[in-house]
This record gives sequence, C-alpha cells and structure tokens, in this order.
Amino acid sequence: MSAPSAGSVVLGIESSCDELAAAIVRDGGTVVGSVVHGQDAVHRPYGGVVPELASRDHVAAVSQVVAAALDEARLELDAITGIAVTAGPGLLGSLLVGLSFAKALAFQRDLPLVGVHHLAGHLAAAELVDEALRPPYLGLVVSGGHTALYRVEADRAPALLGETRDDAVGEAFDKVAKLLGLPYPGGPALSRIAEKGDATAVDFPRPLAEQAGLDFSYSGLKTAVAHEVARRQPLDGRDVADLAASFEAAATDVLVARSRRALEQEGLGRLAVVGGVAANRRLRAELAAAAARQGFHLAVPPPALCTDNAAMIAAAGTRLLARGERHGWELTAASRVALDAEAFYSGPAR
Ligand code: KG4
Ligand code: ZN
Repeated sequence: MSAPSAGSVVLGIESSCDELAAAIVRDGGTVVGSVVHGQDAVHRPYGGVVPELASRDHVAAVSQVVAAALDEARLELDAITGIAVTAGPGLLGSLLVGLSFAKALAFQRDLPLVGVHHLAGHLAAAELVDEALRPPYLGLVVSGGHTALYRVEADRAPALLGETRDDAVGEAFDKVAKLLGLPYPGGPALSRIAEKGDATAVDFPRPLAEQAGLDFSYSGLKTAVAHEVARRQPLDGRDVADLAASFEAAATDVLVARSRRALEQEGLGRLAVVGGVAANRRLRAELAAAAARQGFHLAVPPPALCTDNAAMIAAAGTRLLARGERHGWELTAASRVALDAEAFYSGPAR
C-alpha cells in the first residue's frame, strides 16, 4: 500500500473486448469487490468475438455489473472516491460503453475520472498481488491481442523491448484450437486437452528462437500446426491431445526463452507475467522452474487476475489519481495506443 492512495476507494470499469468487468480497490492494494461478466455464449456460434454483439451485450450489462461489484464490496456509491476506466486499446464500440458509463457516473457524482491503458492494467495486476515486485522489472504481456516485453521503471513510461511481428500468442492458441475442432474460447480448452497429450509428439518450430533480438512470431507455428492437422486427417482424440500439447510446448518455450534473454540483456532480476495466456498452467510451471534455476523473482497473478478484469484497472487508476492526474470529459477511447504513449500511462507507484 502506498501512502498517497491511503483512504481511496476506486471503482474500476473494463470493457475493452468481450468482458464487462467492474471492481473496487481500497487503498490501492485491496480488492474488495470484483465482478466479470463474460460473453462466451454470445460469440460461441461464430467461433470468435463479434464486435457489434460485444458492445450491445456490454450496454445491457454495465449498470448491473457495477451494482454487483458494489454489492460484493458492501459499499454504496457514496463511498467511491474516484473512477478508473479502460480507455484503450481494444474494440472501439466495446471501449466506448465502459467509458461513457464511467464518464456519466463521474459527472453525476462529481468524482475524479482517469482513463487507464489496458496493458498498464494487466501489469498493475502483478503489482497488486506481489509486494516484492518493485521496478525496475521485466513485464511480459501475453494476451489475445498482445505479446510484448517491457522494461518497467518507477518514474517513466514502460519501454517496449520486443513484441510479436504477426499474431499474438493468445490469438495463436485460439486459432490452433479452432484447427483442432475445440470449442470457443479456444485457449483454455486447448490447454485442458494438452494435459492429456504428449508434448514431444511433434517437434514444432520455436519461432525466432535462434535469432537475436526480443521479438516474437507466431504465424509460422500456427501454419506448421495446420500442415500437421491436414496430414493426419481424420484426427482422433489422441491426435488432438498430442498436437495441442506439442503446440503448447512450442508456444510457451519461446516465451520462457525470450524472457530469460531479456532479463539478462537488461540486467533485471524480476519478471512479471500478465495477460490471459499467463493463466496457462504449462507456462506458469515452466516459468517457475526457470525462476528457481536462474534465481530471478517471478510474479504471476492468480488466473482470475491474468484474464481481463477490472481490479487491475482500479489498481492502475488508483496510482494515477494519487499522483493528481485527472482526465476531463474530452477523454475518448483509442482502439490502438502504445503503452509508452503518454496518453494512458499509469506507472508503478513505488
Ligand atoms: O488478457 P485477455 O483476457 O484478453 C485480452 O486482452 O486479449 O486474454 C485473452 C487470451 C485469449 O486468447 C485466450 O485464449 C487466452 O488469453 N487464454 C489462454 C488461457 N486462458 C486464456 N491461453 C492459454 N491457456 C490458458 N489457460
Ligand atoms: Zn487483456
């Protein structure tokens, strides 16, 4: 808990993709209520997120989800001292629902409002649960839209060290799951099936593994899986499990290897891994083993704080508010905005 946020009770709202989430964080460090309304059933028939359907469902859900988070926290709106909302990046229509609701509430209750960068939120989740995670540290963001390494500093915006040149790792999980005929949402389903498979069944390429630099690439791996799927038609249960396990091993090996290289190159001893793919059990186990072997500090939030949630937005927003930042009614959503852009920067408090 940092002193400037003592006494704060911040409402966070997150609606950047297909989850509408609201949460309340007290004193910058304690989650007292957190509700996530997912839309898997809405998008399942289409095998992926349909933006128009996502924003319509957000409109229907937003006030109930905020009310449910307040209920869980046993608080009335009167207790809230500030509002934090994801302002980008994400689906524009989805972002605008949370942002408009947050603005209206801030206006009505005369509360300070801040827009938070979605990835600053993901990184804040690691700091929220791990007191020992102090900047400078390496942040690995692995989600459906991002695969990137950042150097996180106390007093300036995170510096991008490397990112994917094509697909995000979560996107690769989702696409490979589809190729294997697994139900939407693909990532978690693939990871469950992979536990029954042989990760050494197919030696898929570890993209860019031999090359210098800290970038990632996942489209070649996805294509390699597509070729193997075509070669083995028709797939039986064992094929699906073995291909899932072999893909998962290739996808996660690269993340561990790149993180180790970045820690070394940057002279850092702490690593935070955040975003939906950080919920992956194999990745968590491999990272823990690497941390034990190499002696670096590893911070990975519990799975519910890895996938999209609003506690991370409230936590990141608390720091902005404690620094005296306020966004006016001109604050608007941005579908693409770099984390190192000043716009929604929300750096660590310590
Ligand atoms: O952070 P997140 O909830 O939303 C974005 O900001 O994108 O991440 C969602 C991504 C999806 O691609 C999903 O398939 C993936 O995270 N994901 C997983 C697991 N749980 C979620 N991927 C692999 N294993 C998991 N257990
Ligand atoms: Zn996310």
